[in-house]
Amino acid sequence: MSHAHLTVDPHFTVGTIQRRLFGGFVEHLGRHVYDGIYEPGHPSADAEGWRTDVIELVKELGVDCIRYPGGNFVSGFKWEDSVGPREERPRRLDLAWHSTETNEVGLHEFSSWLDKVGSDLMLAVNLGTRGTAEALDLIEYANVPGGTALSEQRRANGRDQPFGVKMWCLGNEMDGPWQLGHRNADDYGKIAAQTARALRQVDPDIELVACGSSSAQMPTFGAWERTVLEHAYDEVDFISCHAYYEEYDGDLDSFLASAVNMDRFIETVVDTADHVKALKKSDKTINISFDEWNVWYITRFENVDKITGMDNWPVAPRLLEDVYSVADAVVFGNLMISLLKHADRVTSASLAQLVNVIAPIMTEPGGPAWRQTTFFPFSITSRLARGAALELKLDAPTYETTRHGVVPLVDAVATHDAESGASAAFLVNRSATEPLMVTVDVAQLGDVSVLESHTLADDDIYAKNTLDEPERVAPRANDTAVIAGGTLTITLPPVSWTALALG
Ligand code: AHR
Repeated sequence: MSHAHLTVDPHFTVGTIQRRLFGGFVEHLGRHVYDGIYEPGHPSADAEGWRTDVIELVKELGVDCIRYPGGNFVSGFKWEDSVGPREERPRRLDLAWHSTETNEVGLHEFSSWLDKVGSDLMLAVNLGTRGTAEALDLIEYANVPGGTALSEQRRANGRDQPFGVKMWCLGNEMDGPWQLGHRNADDYGKIAAQTARALRQVDPDIELVACGSSSAQMPTFGAWERTVLEHAYDEVDFISCHAYYEEYDGDLDSFLASAVNMDRFIETVVDTADHVKALKKSDKTINISFDEWNVWYITRFENVDKITGMDNWPVAPRLLEDVYSVADAVVFGNLMISLLKHADRVTSASLAQLVNVIAPIMTEPGGPAWRQTTFFPFSITSRLARGAALELKLDAPTYETTRHGVVPLVDAVATHDAESGASAAFLVNRSATEPLMVTVDVAQLGDVSVLESHTLADDDIYAKNTLDEPERVAPRANDTAVIAGGTLTITLPPVSWTALALG
């Protein structure tokens, strides 16, 4: 059996883990809102039409701030359509997903749902088909206490107190040619800076996210971030990153190493932001909002799901309903490890998305809600990763991949909460075939024992949870984990993700 070795030392911290790292994303897309979180006729629905079984699962998932209402959707969205008396709200074409948006759920309703799940709102403004003026209207409506036309309109619509939205996204994926109102970096940088300045004139306490690249594979990647930040550095707090991964053409080895791409993506954006910092001779540091990340079989969407036709604009169609396997969940857990390893600069992140649409939670209309395989790495990491992320000394065998070059077979991160003394470690074995023995030097953590162990693995790495078999896959305790004389040893099965709570 191959061996890997790591040293965990609470003195070597990467950075404090912000709770916002465990954010989510709800887009008006497919069956996410309608027939997902909102289904008035469902047996579990509360008086407002929210599925309480879904609310319970979202709470168990442990999501912090939730980005809303898109995504590509936001670039054609008129926020005014989604407030006021429901019966007067217009039905609109959603060009991004070739659907009909009924506007039955809007800002007020979504905010009420957020209160029920205990999450904060991260609001995206439309800088695709709209601009600074409409963004200003929205912040006046949302954040101004009263005494002006739009703040009074909000109060008349039943919300006396402002929503107090703290985090704002300046558009969505404006580098992507698929985006309504797609712009070049210069044009976007200018409108982002102008809109940011204006929004802050209304509410100086907000935090602002400029659009970075839609992926590290975009032809403009790097130059986009540099140019946008040259325009907007002083005005914004974050630059965004988006990344989705899938197994291409059966290349499992590369897929299992997807987090290597995420590591490099983050590090390149950090370098680029710091380069602009140097050019500007600025004291300010721009951090990353990794506000879309997941495994997503985009090629399936392009070839199977895509809706077309002038007379075909369905309400809440089944779109992007990827069913995740054990292998997908292992990669997913590794992406969370990557985010934690960069906790000093990735200070906000949003799992894309939450329910039905490339989601950890699935629902059936009138039927059950269940956990996908990816649910487990998120809920366990969100619960156990507290305090600071630690810099690990990792010594692991390597393997060769087509997409990412030579990469370690093991990836890992550890966390330590100085206040409670609790520590945790998260590990993946990327080998498709071999178990791996890992020894971890935990002497610096003091006299600790293994409080919890969870390993997600299966003889069938493509096993999934489905409507028919919703509990086929779940993590199991890993009884190989033992600590003796300051050394923890554990065996990681092939294609596995593991979390350990130590204390
Ligand atoms: O999350 C699905 C889509 O992926 C979002 O709408 C868009 O921002 C990204 O391309």
